[in-house]
Amino acid sequence: MKMKALITGVRGFVGKYLADHLLLQGIEVWGTSREESPLLCLENGNVKIIKNDLDSEEEILNLLQTVTPDYIFHLAGQSNVKKSWEDKEGTFYANVNKTIFLLDACVRYQQENPQMRLLTVGSSEEYGRVEPHELPIKESTPLRPMSPYGATKAAVSMLIQQYHKAHELNVIHARPFNHIGPGQTEGFVTTDFAKQVVLIEKGQLAPTINVGDLSSERDFTDVKDIVSAYSSILLKGELGEIYNVCSGKSVSINNILNYFLSFSHEDIIINVDKTRFRPIEFKKYYGSSEKIKSELDWQSVHPIEDSLYEIYLYLKEQ
Ligand code: GDD
Repeated sequence: MKMKALITGVRGFVGKYLADHLLLQGIEVWGTSREESPLLCLENGNVKIIKNDLDSEEEILNLLQTVTPDYIFHLAGQSNVKKSWEDKEGTFYANVNKTIFLLDACVRYQQENPQMRLLTVGSSEEYGRVEPHELPIKESTPLRPMSPYGATKAAVSMLIQQYHKAHELNVIHARPFNHIGPGQTEGFVTTDFAKQVVLIEKGQLAPTINVGDLSSERDFTDVKDIVSAYSSILLKGELGEIYNVCSGKSVSINNILNYFLSFSHEDIIINVDKTRFRPIEFKKYYGSSEKIKSELDWQSVHPIEDSLYEIYLYLKEQ
């Protein structure tokens, strides 16, 4: 019999890639969305979409009993770090309260389907302030989140360990570092930069690109690698565990900008815009992918240059 997956927030940037990946593996895919929509057609088949705001345990239990998933990927949430400073309460409600509703619903649903497995998605922002000697960041590195967003995801990672111990819930937590690819919205660095370059090329923007803090370094992974990691973690990972998902290398934001500038023939002036800065910024960040590599045989395969070029081409075609 076909296995069934449910992706919360399937219409988001990562959801569509994950749905495609699971469909290719012969898994039936359902998804939740805040908007009403009968079917979402993807490249490799159809995903059945159910409108659900994840606003209560009962509402979610109902959803689980209707769909009867074997795998639940919880992607829904507020994922923008800068926005989390502007709407702390909304970010906590979306990322923590709704996850608690889901966890409680899953505890009850697991009694009906003991095989079910749940993946919660956290973030490298959970680690927050990291001392240079702590690099590369391991799953055991202390959590010192330095943004409201990071605090919500750290809370989720603690909660899932409690639910696993207290209720034997079949849950695993992924901690992805920065992920990129075509279709990511503005508000994330690669789309912010590429979009401006493309608008300048189309003559729709003066030849000045606005950028934030270029001095930081981040660990970037292509979204296609990220979703293959999520699927490996949920299908083969150890219950109650946490897995970093990262490339293990850091790239400076200045280099990211230079890649996009090199794709274009325009002469572009760089303007450092202070409104794009965050109240707190970490300078150098990269993770250790040792655990996921040794336990689940996963590693990122898409080179960053290819991902950046794909983002640029995608935006050019819009
Ligand atoms: N967004 C944005 N826009 N960031 C900029 C810009 C700009 O114009 N200029 C410089 N930056 C810098 C940011 O200050 C940050 O240091 C870095 O680029 C990456 O910013 P984002 O792409 O917004 O990602 P993030 O690191 O804050 O958060 C992302 O990664 C997390 C995992 O580490 C998000 O995808 C989170 O949802 C994810 O959990």
